[in-house]
Amino acid sequence: MSDALPLRSWLFIPGDSEKKMAKVADCGADAVILDLEDAVSPDNKPLARRLIPDFLRTTPRGRRKAQYWVRVNPFDSGLTLDDLAAIMPGAPDGIMQPKTNDPDDVRRLSHYLDALEAAHGIERGSVKILPVATETAIAPFTLGQFASAGLERLAGLTWGAEDLSAALGASTNVDTSGHWAFTYQMARSLCLLAAHASGVQAIDTLYVDFRDEDGLRAACRAARAEGFTGRIAIHPAQVAGINDSFMPSADEVAHARRVIDAFAASPGAGTVGLDGKMIDIPHQKQAQRVLAQAAAFRARA
Ligand code: COA
Ligand code: MG
Repeated sequence: MSDALPLRSWLFIPGDSEKKMAKVADCGADAVILDLEDAVSPDNKPLARRLIPDFLRTTPRGRRKAQYWVRVNPFDSGLTLDDLAAIMPGAPDGIMQPKTNDPDDVRRLSHYLDALEAAHGIERGSVKILPVATETAIAPFTLGQFASAGLERLAGLTWGAEDLSAALGASTNVDTSGHWAFTYQMARSLCLLAAHASGVQAIDTLYVDFRDEDGLRAACRAARAEGFTGRIAIHPAQVAGINDSFMPSADEVAHARRVIDAFAASPGAGTVGLDGKMIDIPHQKQAQRVLAQAAAFRARA
């Protein structure tokens, strides 16, 4: 994980809905993703290409309470360049890139951004990229390549199950107990590993049932325990649960302090006992990370 504070909640907002975009100021999300892709019908894409840059311009960078990201259409749609040309005058904080096959797709987008940043007087390299990196059949196989791809705009990696199942002609992506079927668990794990191998944020996919607050919180806590740093939201009601769950809890912070204290009490030791269990250097590193994150989140609030 890079030192930058991760963005916990990423709220999707359909780019053709002025009404929903008007909720951004109070939504509490760390980032919003104004969508030009699948949440917008082909007929409404021209409207969304007008509304999104207007919205971006209402609050310039530096004065935004949330980061403003835009999901553009994928390269094979033929729409990507026109999407970018429409939105870049508004200086988004980042681009979510769907249906990438490999890091070369991200490099190509990055080159487009080089030119568009120059054209619009935007600081070079400042528009970041978040690929949805498991939505095609080939994509999971190339995830490991991100670690050595040298993509300076790469802010994180996220994954999606819906388009992957469509790419596979699958009628479902869950097993009989309702959990992700093996193929999707594998794609998710590879995304998590690739994000950490690349030193970027690992963003878990959306939780479809937006009325199930308890289920969302439990799923987010489990995802954080695995190493995910944030999660996609589809409804404002999901934001608080995601934000809370991706911060170190009071119990975690207390435990981390005890781990640090235990090592401090045995200078030079590589391994010590705590509550009858062995802890070693990886535990110490994790405890330091938890305390640093807790302090950083407190500073952000
Ligand atoms: N962003 C901002 N505001 C939103 C919102 C969102 N993603 N989802 C809902 N709201 C607003 C609604 O406009 C409504 O406002 P109101 O009280 O002023 O009328 C309020 O929150 C409550 O909405 P609710 O009635 O519970 O939901 P809905 O039936 O209007 O919308 C969805 C349900 C799923 C269509 C909607 O949440 C949505 O559009 N989500 C994003 C979908 C998306 O972008 N998907 C792409 C990625 S998969
Ligand atoms: Mg999709």
